[in-house]
Amino acid sequence: EALAPSAGRLKGKHILVTAGPTHEPIDPVRYIANRSSGKQGYEIAHALAALGARVTLVSGPVALAPPAGVTRVAVETAREMQAAVDAALPADAAVMVAAVADWRLGDAAEQKIKKGEAAPQLALVENPDILAGLAKSSQRPRLLIGFAAETERVVEHAVAKRTRKGADWIVANDVSGDVMGGDANTIYLVTATGVESWETLPKPDVARRLAERIADAL
Ligand code: CTP
Ligand code: CA
Repeated sequence: EALAPSAGRLKGKHILVTAGPTHEPIDPVRYIANRSSGKQGYEIAHALAALGARVTLVSGPVALAPPAGVTRVAVETAREMQAAVDAALPADAAVMVAAVADWRLGDAAEQKIKKGEAAPQLALVENPDILAGLAKSSQRPRLLIGFAAETERVVEHAVAKRTRKGADWIVANDVSGDVMGGDANTIYLVTATGVESWETLPKPDVARRLAERIADAL
């Protein structure tokens, strides 16, 4: 079989990818979560492996099979995702695609909450920011990439997020249309040197283009 010219460009590199949502339990049968199919993150893991990288995919609950040649670590909550990310280090690059729940219940119920007269008041506490934590860690990957799903002022929010979180790149996508669970993405790549706008592409094409850019940078 003939190999594409770019095959093997990431040989010897370890790349960490987070994907999917996190689920934060309310009680044993209920949770809060962000919307995320996991498709874009899984496509990125696949594209990186296709360039020869060793890929660790830390994934929240999704209805997808792990891509061939990728090591998947399945997690449920943000705190489990953070622990799995830490355990997978060191890495040459990290691509944080997961839609991490920003809050969890301070005190999840051990038994199923029964429907009563008053609706339960959910007291939320903030989850750890996995990307921001990794940016400050002594094991910070050389290339740290965050994602940002925005519904308005996409580039403005993404530029601010890059600095605030200490990421090298932010891959911003406009989710004001029908992107969630869909098969295409409109991307702005925000780096230290500026903002690139990509044409709307199928998710596998976004993944391949990003993987090539990562190979260029490493
Ligand atoms: N992220 C993370 N841990 C969190 C929240 C977010 O690692 N607790 C990562 C995401 O995987 C993504 C990036 O940070 O790569 C941006 O996530 P986003 O939700 O857009 O950023 P927030 O800082 O949570 O801002 P917002 O208020 O817009 O949700
Ligand atoms: Ca968030």
